Amino acid sequence: MLNRRAVLASLAGAVSVALTSSACGKDSEGSSETRSEGGTVGIAMPTRSSERWLTDGKSVVENLKIQGYKTKLVYGDDDPKVQASQIEALVKQGVNALIIAAIDAKSLNGPLQQAADAKIPVISYDRLILGTENVDFYVSFDNEMVGRVQAHHIIKKLGLEDGEGPFNIELFAGSPDDNNTKYFYEGSMALLQPFLESKQLVVPSGQTRLEQMTTLRWDGPTAEKRMRSILAQWYGNRTVDAVLSPYDGISLGVISALNADGYGTDAKPLPVITGQDAELASIKSIIAGEQSQTVYKDVRELARTATEMVDDILSDRVPRVNNRSDYDNGVKNVPAHLLQPQNVDKANYDVLIQDGYYSVGELK
Ligand code: GAL
Repeated sequence: MLNRRAVLASLAGAVSVALTSSACGKDSEGSSETRSEGGTVGIAMPTRSSERWLTDGKSVVENLKIQGYKTKLVYGDDDPKVQASQIEALVKQGVNALIIAAIDAKSLNGPLQQAADAKIPVISYDRLILGTENVDFYVSFDNEMVGRVQAHHIIKKLGLEDGEGPFNIELFAGSPDDNNTKYFYEGSMALLQPFLESKQLVVPSGQTRLEQMTTLRWDGPTAEKRMRSILAQWYGNRTVDAVLSPYDGISLGVISALNADGYGTDAKPLPVITGQDAELASIKSIIAGEQSQTVYKDVRELARTATEMVDDILSDRVPRVNNRSDYDNGVKNVPAHLLQPQNVDKANYDVLIQDGYYSVGELK
């Protein structure tokens, strides 16, 4: 019933006008006062194995309901084939828009062609979908900044800017099929590289190339296994001083490997370990002095942004974007709206309570 792809083509041109005339502020046309007649939005999330994606799914559904939409939420359980068939099913069911957090950035060409043929607009949620023209908008956080925030924490904690060192560091990256992995890696390495060159940071395993560091599907046990083998092979008479971890699930896997190797005592303290997503288990670990840091991204805000975008598209308004040039998916520049990530460590974790992300009780 709602045929929007033609409208989108003209909106894409209008976005720049909206941006120059009202900067990033919400223009009167962008307000959600005029509600669409409703419709059904299909939401394809990647996994239930991580708490954040449960919050994402729940928040998108809640926001869309408030805006008067029906929703169909599916989880792909980290299997790209399952996700592709879920999206095909949503297209067949006639949803009016799709919000998709891809498992494998490059595996959705077929289903997205079907969505395009059915004139269903597609929002790439958190992770940029690559290699297809059939993606209309992208909503995420500034992911290169996430990597920088993690690296900055390591630099500060080790006193690298004061000339301290040398320190032993090991490096972990996310899933090779997730486009965000590259941003996190590039952001972190941009800041760490000078200290690797000055030899204030040394990587005993020598594993510094992205393809040596990745963790398929961001899986904690996979990271734990890699850390165990690095410890066994390279740390006979050395100590780990820092671990760059891109995501809380990986951080906790790394901590398990370190604990099994005798770290976590006064005589052998855990290294500085970063993370991302402010997941409950990691916040508890930070409070307990184990994991040192995480990156808090308020995914409720991400969900709101995606929801507003869908409502704008389906109501023939111009969706708000704040970046039109940096998110080339290999086929087109995808207009994007990026939110800002925030450092969280032991000194400031109560920001999560102030924001209502967790209650005091949950953190006990
Ligand atoms: C990434 C996301 C991270 C983390 C990770 C594992 O795409 O940007 O915040 O959630 O997936 O789920």
